[in-house]
Amino acid sequence: MDKHTYILPTSVYCIFIIMSLIAMNNAAVVDIKTKGAKGDGVTDDGPAITNAWKDACAGAPPSSLLIPPGTYLALLIDFLGPCKGPIEIIAKGATIKAPPELAKFTRDSWIKIMNVDKLTMTGGTFDGQGQATWKSTKCQDSQSTCNIPVNLRLNKITGSVFRDMTSVNSKNFHIAVLACDNNRFENLVIDAPGNSVNTDGMHIAKLNGLNITNANIKTGDDCISFGDGSKNVHIQQVTCGPGHGFGVGSLGKYPSEEPVQGIFFKNCTMTGTTNGVRIKSWPASLPGAARDIHFEDIIMNNVQNPILIDQEYCPNNQCKKTSPSKVKLSNVSFKRIRGTSATKVAVKLVCSAGVPCDNIEVADINLTFSGGPATSECSNVKPKITGATVPVVCKA
Ligand SMILES: *[C@@H]1O[C@H](CO)[C@@H](O)[C@H](O)[C@H]1NC(C)=O
Ligand SMILES: *[C@@H]1O[C@H](CO)[C@@H](O)[C@H](O)[C@H]1NC(C)=O
Ligand SMILES: *[C@@H]1O[C@H](CO)[C@@H](O)[C@H](O)[C@H]1NC(C)=O
Ligand SMILES: *[C@@H]1O[C@H](CO)[C@@H](O)[C@H](O)[C@H]1NC(C)=O
Repeated sequence: MDKHTYILPTSVYCIFIIMSLIAMNNAAVVDIKTKGAKGDGVTDDGPAITNAWKDACAGAPPSSLLIPPGTYLALLIDFLGPCKGPIEIIAKGATIKAPPELAKFTRDSWIKIMNVDKLTMTGGTFDGQGQATWKSTKCQDSQSTCNIPVNLRLNKITGSVFRDMTSVNSKNFHIAVLACDNNRFENLVIDAPGNSVNTDGMHIAKLNGLNITNANIKTGDDCISFGDGSKNVHIQQVTCGPGHGFGVGSLGKYPSEEPVQGIFFKNCTMTGTTNGVRIKSWPASLPGAARDIHFEDIIMNNVQNPILIDQEYCPNNQCKKTSPSKVKLSNVSFKRIRGTSATKVAVKLVCSAGVPCDNIEVADINLTFSGGPATSECSNVKPKITGATVPVVCKA
């Protein structure tokens, strides 16, 4: 190759870089302060944050919304798409607080993120200030229609990443993810007291493709709960407790529930939770299915029900146990699960008499109980057992 033809592509490359830099300068970077956010912790900065998002979203991609370090009060925040292209929300060092008064809320989400593709959200502490709400009895009977807001509600979000975020003291669930495909959550902290009410760490349903890696979840309800239609979900390096542990279901309550399928839990630690890994369905239920659910390398520290399949789930006798669950469980494995059980029955596999569990695998379990030998309880299931298991599981 002679000198001339060698130089030409190099200069073309340089021009390309310069053009990219020009394009980047045109990219929308919108600081919420330019939209009037005060950050005094008193003013409602919700409108300023929402307006800044609208500009960033409508601006030339890659655009970003900047929430500078500080403390902001915000009643409602909307991050609604579709946007012009990939977009970022940078909230490192920022704390956003919801007003504590439940009466101020007229909808079931505090921060609503909807219809966005390729969003990257980094940092931020989202404080729902839910303490008074948990104590209130106003919304606790099932008849009342109350809007108890979820801290972060994601709906129709695709190809996005949420990282280094913290959710504290949500009034309802911390993070709800619905109808969202191929997203990732990394490095999350979720924190609410063990006696907070209905504060699931993450609730997911009706989605395909979600990875949650490295999260520390302390809360009053399920650590991560899975509603119907959850598919292809990978949970890794998640620690739970206090709270109710991992929960698939309850399934079988509503008509036309979609199957739960392809859920993989790996390298997780449960400490002081009421359940470790749990799959539950209602008796006398509508048909449904949960399959291909795998729990591996899980450490239990003083967990009340470390391993639990409960197809007769019926809290407060709110259902009839007259006929068995119609939710079919198959291809479920529990492997390399060890630690301590806070109760004698460390493994409970109670499957449906109507549709017994199929292809359940239990391998290398070591769960001990301080008050004597741990035991297992099984019905309508014939698991394949491999390796050593303490306790002995489902011995006929
Ligand atoms: C989630 O992790 C699995 C296994 O590592 C991988 O195959 C999949 O592509 C990941 N999905 C997303 C949305 O990152
Ligand atoms: C699980 O943890 C072990 C030991 O801490 C580590 O070697 C392994 O890479 C982890 N696996 C995953 C998938 O994170
Ligand atoms: C269940 O697992 C078997 C092999 O272990 C596999 O052939 C089958 O396709 C799986 N079924 C479902 C519904 O995941
Ligand atoms: C189970 O764990 C206990 C306590 O850590 C230990 O003493 C015991 O040897 C383990 N048993 C097996 C079969 O691994």
